Amino acid sequence: MERVILSFGEYEKLARRVARKAGVSYSRLNVSRFPDSESYVRFRSDIRGKSVYILQSLHPANEKLMDVLLAGYTAKELGARRITLIAPYLAYMRQDKRFKEGEAVSARIVVGRLLSVYDKLITIDPHLHRIKKMSDVFPNSSRVLTANDVLASFIKRRLGGGLIIGPDGESFQWARSIAKKINLDVVVLKKERYSAERVRIKLSSEAREKIRRDRNAVIVDDIISTGHTVIETVRKAKELGMLVRAVVCVHGVFAEDAYKKIRRTGVKEIYSTNTIAGEHSSIDVSGLIAGSLNNQGR
Ligand code: R5P
Repeated sequence: MERVILSFGEYEKLARRVARKAGVSYSRLNVSRFPDSESYVRFRSDIRGKSVYILQSLHPANEKLMDVLLAGYTAKELGARRITLIAPYLAYMRQDKRFKEGEAVSARIVVGRLLSVYDKLITIDPHLHRIKKMSDVFPNSSRVLTANDVLASFIKRRLGGGLIIGPDGESFQWARSIAKKINLDVVVLKKERYSAERVRIKLSSEAREKIRRDRNAVIVDDIISTGHTVIETVRKAKELGMLVRAVVCVHGVFAEDAYKKIRRTGVKEIYSTNTIAGEHSSIDVSGLIAGSLNNQGR
């Protein structure tokens, strides 16, 4: 089956790279806004009978979600044989439970229902925590990739080493696996979150000991959103007289000036992958995505 990757806006660059590396053709999807802010989507190439990949991260979440929904439903109507959403960053996954009475469980509604127009979903390091696997929420075929190898070799090449700090239990899967791959020591902390802006990080005595001993700590997390998780971790390390050298994450959301706020703590190096397009997304995941297209059959 003929394959085509389509994208728009700030993800075109990543999509073109993926297409080149995977040997798949690329076409631009026309997406714009009506004056009243509604989304406008138009396919300019013939997609009938093809396997269509829409590459777009869900960030900013609401805006991109509407675009990819319109694109998905339209691709079906236009006769695409199979439609795949490649969402390097899949938003809405963190609200994976009704924490307070009456709340929407967004992960189940957005990923489980709305996006189910797509026959297949490919994503990188989705926030799977209380929902354990993508098939527990997304009803169709899915492929979950991890940027762990990419991050591990980046840390080794650029930073040389250091103690890897996972700021909370949820970062465990990334911090542990990355540290193991490049033979570094790791410590995973405990976090209590009271609101988007209020988090408290707790250090065990083992964590204190390790942080005190290492002058080159690197915080590793899946997502930096408001940055408070990282800021609190840096603050705890400072109380022990240590300055965190760098912060590395998969998805750099950097909401509410988070990047600047983290810099103000004294951390000089902050890196994220380009699953979310932005000026600080310096670690490329195009090879990772292209590899998954080449390995999945048609
Ligand atoms: C969830 O716990 C994640 O692993 C991240 O630690 C979290 O999403 C970061 O959020 P923020 O930057 O808003 O503290």
